[in-house]
Amino acid sequence: MTSQGTRLAGKVAVISGASRGMGLSHTRAFLDQGARVVAFDLNEDAGQTLAEEYGVDRVVFLRGDVRTAADWSHAVQTGVERFGAINVLVNNAGVSPLQRLESVTEADYRRVIDINQVGTFLGMRAVIPAMRESGGGSIVNIASSAALVGFADIFSYVASKWAVRGMTKAAALELVEYGIRVNAVCPGDTDTPMIRENAKTPSASMPPAEDLPFGRWARPEEVSAAAVFLASDESSYMSGTEVVVDGAFTAQ
Ligand SMILES: NC(=O)c1ccc[n+]([C@@H]2O[C@H](COP(=O)([O-])OP(=O)(O)OC[C@H]3O[C@@H](n4cnc5c(N)ncnc54)[C@H](O)[C@@H]3O)[C@@H](O)[C@H]2O)c1
Repeated sequence: MTSQGTRLAGKVAVISGASRGMGLSHTRAFLDQGARVVAFDLNEDAGQTLAEEYGVDRVVFLRGDVRTAADWSHAVQTGVERFGAINVLVNNAGVSPLQRLESVTEADYRRVIDINQVGTFLGMRAVIPAMRESGGGSIVNIASSAALVGFADIFSYVASKWAVRGMTKAAALELVEYGIRVNAVCPGDTDTPMIRENAKTPSASMPPAEDLPFGRWARPEEVSAAAVFLASDESSYMSGTEVVVDGAFTAQ
């Protein structure tokens, strides 16, 4: 468990890709700060554990695909029916296969764009009516340091994450009239199953952890801290921007 508090007390959050890695960490951090959470993922691995740990009155875990508008509607509807509102969305689900421009297939490129970019768009669009009903809300899009600079060997991923950052700014301007803030978190290399998988193959996109300015990857909870801040009222005058949690990587 992360530290306990009340920074998100009274808030209901939808979090995608919550079965493992950072999505699971965000879900725990939100629950630990008093939020109630509708979590979803392609698989429900973490669902039972979270329900046992926090109680079914605090967290609902659904099976869902961010590429499917109906799954987003189901998540939003579940939040409204079970917890009475939707105040926060964390668009976290994503994939990051190693792919080079000269050899990536059209199908593989479209898959990454579909999950990382279209999934983020569908999530933002889905929560707008419920957030308007609540008088506002906070959308947190998980982008990446790959939304700030280019990286070799993860071509589709870089394209999708720059799109997430751009959508964040465009959505912030459109949704300000409803009191909905939209921000991005840009993590650097973070210790999750995704990066452990990628680290098995030497690639230009991932220097060894000891060569990073901090000499290590981020811990998932160090990124969740930024998500909690952006979801909370502490960031009430922040919208259309990004919080970079990359241990000075892009400062180089
Ligand atoms: N780990 C890093 O170094 C790093 C760095 C920057 C940004 N990110 C971003 O953070 C987010 C989380 O990454 P992670 O490292 O925890 O990854 P991860 O692979 O460990 O976990 C991702 C989760 O998303 C789920 N998911 C994948 N496709 C889905 C879909 N179509 N619908 C619903 N759920 C789906 C997976 O089942 C998995 O549980 C991603 O958006 C990723 O791009 C990760």
